[in-house]
Amino acid sequence: MNNSKIATRLAKISDLPEIQTMFVDTITAICKDDYSPEQIMVWTSSIKNTQRWTDIITLQYFLIAEVDGNIVGYISLYDNDYIDLLYVHKDYQRQGIADKLYCEIEKEAIKKGGTVLQSDVSKTARPFFEKKGFIVLKEQTNIRQGVEIINYKMTKQL
Ligand SMILES: CC(C)(COP(=O)(O)OP(=O)(O)OC[C@H]1O[C@@H](n2cnc3c(N)ncnc32)[C@H](O)[C@@H]1OP(=O)(O)O)[C@@H](O)C(=O)NCCC(=O)NCCS
Repeated sequence: MNNSKIATRLAKISDLPEIQTMFVDTITAICKDDYSPEQIMVWTSSIKNTQRWTDIITLQYFLIAEVDGNIVGYISLYDNDYIDLLYVHKDYQRQGIADKLYCEIEKEAIKKGGTVLQSDVSKTARPFFEKKGFIVLKEQTNIRQGVEIINYKMTKQL
């Protein structure tokens, strides 16, 4: 996609329903080759933690990408050195949306004096983070609601 068609802005609390719908839809459609239906159910059930989502929008640097006024992706930066969320709409994959969001977050981190970025990255997102220069520090097995979910602690020096 022509990069100039992708607009970015800070998230508002009123975006929360659309953000959460996209979270569930993206994981269900895009991560199904890397995670089982049971793992996906546990992962998507985290939208029920309303306090966490409100905190992410109000306390983190939370950027939204829009195309023609619709939310097509988002990224959030916590404490200037941790990428918490990065999700792109299932119908807008591989069109440079995560790339644009990531570049803006990296610039913001550098502007605030950051020297390193970290994230806990899904199997699905690992190739994207590797492309952006992150390396895997370790593979992690998380137990959530009794279900094992593997992800990777990844880091990049800025
Ligand atoms: C990971 C994710 C955010 C990438 O978003 P995207 O907008 O499709 O990524 P981009 O189009 O900006 O990709 C930029 C580059 O990253 C690399 N890349 C992205 N996805 C890739 C994939 N699945 N396999 C290999 N390389 C990939 C490519 O080099 C790509 O450039 P190219 O398309 O010119 O080859 C998206 O696939 C997603 O939402 N995944 C599911 C949710 C998820 O797991 N989020 C992370 C939670 S930790």
